[in-house]
Formats: sequence, C-alpha cells, structure tokens
Amino acid sequence: MTTAGTLPAPATFPPRPQMDTEALYAQAAADRLGFWAEQGRRLSWDKPFTTVLDDTESPFYRWFTDGTLNASANCLDRHVAAGRGDRVAYHWHGEEGETRTITYAALLEEVQRFANALKGLGVTAGDVVGIHLPMIPEAIVAMLACARIGALHNVVFGGFAPQAVGERMAACGAKALVTVDGARRKGRVTAVKQALEEVLETLPDLEHVVVVGAAEAPCPMRPGRDSWYAGLCAAADPECPAVPLPAEHPLFILYSSGSTAAPKGVVHTTGGYLTGVSYTHRVVFDLAPERDVWFCTADIGWITGHSYLVYGPLLNGVTSVLFEGAPDHPHKGVWWELVERYGVTQLYTAPTAIRAAMSWGEELPGRYDLSSLRLLGSCGEPIDPTAWHWYHRVIGGGRCPVVDTWWQTETGSIMIAPLPGATGTKPGSATRPLPGVSAELLDADGTPVTGGTGLLALTEPWPSMLRTLYGDDERYLVTYFSRFGKDTYLVGDAARLDEDGCFWILGRTDDVINVSGHRLSTAEVESAVAAHPAVADVAVVAIPDELTGQAVVAFVTPAGGRPGDAALETELRRHIAVRIGKLARPKRIVWAADLPKTRSGKIMRRLLRDLLTGQETGDVTTLGEPDVMAALTAAVTHPIH
Ligand code: WTA
Repeated sequence: MTTAGTLPAPATFPPRPQMDTEALYAQAAADRLGFWAEQGRRLSWDKPFTTVLDDTESPFYRWFTDGTLNASANCLDRHVAAGRGDRVAYHWHGEEGETRTITYAALLEEVQRFANALKGLGVTAGDVVGIHLPMIPEAIVAMLACARIGALHNVVFGGFAPQAVGERMAACGAKALVTVDGARRKGRVTAVKQALEEVLETLPDLEHVVVVGAAEAPCPMRPGRDSWYAGLCAAADPECPAVPLPAEHPLFILYSSGSTAAPKGVVHTTGGYLTGVSYTHRVVFDLAPERDVWFCTADIGWITGHSYLVYGPLLNGVTSVLFEGAPDHPHKGVWWELVERYGVTQLYTAPTAIRAAMSWGEELPGRYDLSSLRLLGSCGEPIDPTAWHWYHRVIGGGRCPVVDTWWQTETGSIMIAPLPGATGTKPGSATRPLPGVSAELLDADGTPVTGGTGLLALTEPWPSMLRTLYGDDERYLVTYFSRFGKDTYLVGDAARLDEDGCFWILGRTDDVINVSGHRLSTAEVESAVAAHPAVADVAVVAIPDELTGQAVVAFVTPAGGRPGDAALETELRRHIAVRIGKLARPKRIVWAADLPKTRSGKIMRRLLRDLLTGQETGDVTTLGEPDVMAALTAAVTHPIH
C-alpha cells in the first residue's frame, strides 16, 4: 500500500517474518470474501464452512453459515492438543501482589469442570448466563464454560451498581448469574453478592446464583438458588467435550449504552466474531505466541476485555498478564512494575490511563526496566497528540510503534488501525481501515466525501459485526441501518479524512458520553437523576476533560422549592452511584431554575454545552423561553457554592 505523506514506519520495529502486510491489503482489495474465508479457516472447525457470507436478509448478515465450531475448543483444546498445554495463558496478578500462573492445560481443566457444573444446574445451549465478577481468572473460566456448552454469556462490568446489573439480567432473561462474595478495590472489600440480594429477588427468570469466594466478604446464601463456585467445580466431572455449534450460534450479549435510557444488548455470534478478533489481534499487534507477553489493561466487562483480554489472546495461543487491580494501587507505578516483572512485549490501554500516568510524572515509569516492550496500543477514545508522544517517548522509549485502534462494541474487533512495521503512524489518527474493512466518510445526505469532515460509516459487512440487539431487531435496524439504508452501517462517530486517506475520529454524534473510554448514555444518566424525588428536571451533557476525555455535567432543577445546595449535590451523586455506578457521577452539577427547551419541549443540550465550554450560544430563537439562557449563564459562571 502507499503510505505517502504518513510518517514512515519506525525503522527499529523488527520486520514481520510471519506476515506479508502488503499482500494482505492487496488480497483483501481484490477478493474481500476470499480474504475473510482465509481468515475464517485459521480457526479450527468441526465442520468446515462452504458459504462465506449470506446477505439474503441484509442487514441481518450471516457468516460461515454451514460451518460448526466451538469457541472454547478454539481457545483451549487445540493448543493443548498441539502439545502447548504447559504454556502460560495468564499470569494473574492480584491487588496485593499475589500471583497465579495459569497454563492452557489448567485453564482447560477448570473450564470443563465449570461447564459441567453449569450443565448440572440445568443450563443448556441458548440460555443466558450473567457474569458479574472482578478481574479474577474465574471470570474467564465462566465465559469459556458458557461457550463450551453453547450458553450465551452476558458480562456486566464489576463497577456497575446492583440496579444496573439487575436491569441487564432482566433484559436478557438470564437463567443463572455468576458473581463473587466480595471485590477488592484499592485495599478495600465491597460485599458484591450481599448488595445484589434485593435486586436478585426481582428477577423471575433467574434460577441459580453461583458465587466465587474471593474476598471473605459477608455473603448470605439462599439454599436452592445459591451455590459456591469452588464446591460445584470440585464435585464436577473433569471432562466436558466441547459442543460443535453452528457458526451463527450466539456467543454472547454485551450491553452498551445507546442514545436512549435502555441499554442495547449487542449480540455477537461464534464463527464471525472469533474470526475478527483472532485476525485483528494477530495482525495489529504483530503477535508471535512463542515470544510475546501481552498485557491488555481493559476490564473484562467491556468489549475490549472480551476481544483482547479473553478471546483474541487465547485464540492466538498467547501468554497474557491479567491484573486485578487499579492502575494506582498499591502504587502509581504498578503497571510498569508488571511490565518489568513479566517481560511484557505489547501493552494495550486507553488514552485516559495514559493521561493519568502523564499527570503522575515520568520519573515513575523511569524506575522500571521497560525495554521488553515492542509495541503500544491505544483504544476507546481519541488519543490526543500530547498523550501519544508521551506514550511513545516515555513508555515506549521512542522505539515502539503506537497503534491507535478504532472500533466499537458493535464491530466486535478493530476496524481502523495502522499495521505496525507497514503503515506509518500519525499521532491522533487511527489511520486506515484494516484489510477487509470498508470505511467511508459520508455527508449528511449519505454521499461519500473524500476529504474534510463527515459521518463515519462501514459500507461492507464484516464477520465480527453485531448480528442484532438482543430481542429487538427493530432497534438494530433503526439505530444502525435506517439513515443511509441497509447496506451502510452508521457508526455514530464523526471523523475527518485527510489527504492520505487517514481517519481522525472526532467523537460521537449521538447522545453517548465517553468517560475514560466507558460509554454512558445521556438518557440513562438523566433518567437516573430524574428518579430522585428532589429533582424536577434534568439535562445531562458531556464536556471535554483533560483526564477522562469527556466528563458528565448535570443541569438540575430541584423540585418543590428545595434549594440546590451541597447537601443535595452529595445526595444526587450517591444516588447516581447506586443506580448506575460511580463512573456515571457528574463532574459538576449546575442548579438551573429552568432548562432551555424548544417550543415542543425538547431540551437543547447544544446550548448547555456551548455555555459550559464558553462558546457563543448563537441562535436561541427556537427556544420556548429565551430568558432561560441569561439565568443559566449566571449559574454557570457564579456557582452557588
Ligand atoms: C470511541 C470501545 C477515537 C468511538 C472499543 C466509538 C474511539 C466508541 C477509538 C466505541 C479511537 C473507540 N479513537 N475514538 N481509537 N476507539 N472510540 O463500544 O466514539 O466502548 O464509537 O468500544 O468509542 O466505544 P465502545
């Protein structure tokens, strides 16, 4: 491919003996389906597929339809069968420095036991199993055990509040939930199962709760419904053959925020998803299993954890570091300590973490030997050039390429990223679509634009794309395929395309807020705030934030003449933490006697954003009550406290 105008590939990056990247681009361009078929064949199939893509009911695309395979067999059995059972799958590193070394063979054994345990509880193919666990190996065991028997896992981020967990269980009718007695976070233990009790009572479909005993937290157990993970595994048969499943059998549901309050249950299926993650993990990060130690810092509760902490590395037979803790506990240099200790070769993290590390000073990473690193990755939000250069210079010692990878929960795997050693990099740009991916920039009418800014769209189906939103085909169609028709997947991001064909992601065009790489919906936060009895009205907007990328600001009108004061602010912040989770707590609450609304009563969030970022609010003629803005300007510039 041509890289004219882009920065040259770093000269020190070792050549890629195992891959001819030029050929990859050329082959994908010449025969897209043939290219994907070849990627698909790298998996191990019980029955090989003959159909690559079935688009007869587009946009409900189906890939590799007549093939059968099993995700856990691809992640584990085939490596063990090939004599690589002793290879370390995970170096688990606990909060307080404890370690567990888990080989592929050991992981396979535990997965088989837990799969049998699930079967014993009556879980069968097609059932949904919720997983709400911290970053402990049992989370991975639970995911793969589901996959082994054809149950769908629905992982809910450990930081979500009980109510949010309950909503996500109710929405998918989960039959079982795997959770933990207590989760450790920065030296403290939270009693997770105990806090869930109330919400568990409200779930009619939930028959079983399996509890991993991890932190000796108080943990009430209800006989008949609740059982301990360790007891079930000890009693289970150690052999559980993987069930061959059709390629389109759903592998998991993962709830993601959309532009309404109800989260979207993104559904991924088996053959296409695995093809996408194994291919992208291998080519974007230049992985060689016998040489590399991979460290992805994402939580298992997000798509990055699913694709690049669990499925991608295991499919490629790689050794990973799995870290339980927070980046600043027990000290702010802990990631760098782990890089040195395990000889990490590739590190994949989010810009927000890089900015936090920047703010802690470069002498911290300077205390550790980071010379094992060969490549650095970033994802989840735009990486600003300052952070990019710091990452490149301080962490990568100036010798590691930084790959900025653009993708989404819905895309399943990376879509736009440089290929290290082949594509030059540009700080701040995710560069070009990967071989096999068709991304375009469209104007408001859907006409492709070759430069400037526009709406990002994916114009050809790809194997790891979401198949639908769980139980809601209509919302799938409306959200992604209504604006430009059923052949064009609307991403929801605005982007700029430069003269070299490189994409610069500008951010979301819908009401989704990206805080530290976590997606939150404006509407979801608003409905949580509005549920508080002291709130009459609320509008939530995102503002740029140096550390977290974006931050939440809530404009709140108190109810019944109650003053907006520090006491109410504390109450509301606690309320949001309980309803959604701490990550959704606003950075700032502005008390507003009134909110700017159109004559039809629609809140004009644009005006609120402009106000906060100090921009001219411009045209307010569509406002029902134009005076509202003057009062709000005063509230923003002279807060009451
Ligand atoms: C944003 C996370 C800029 C984008 C993998 C997207 C990015 C949303 C990048 C998806 C990047 C992700 N540069 N923005 N490299 N990667 N985004 O579903 O707005 O949690 O639509 O998936 O994050 O977030 P999600």
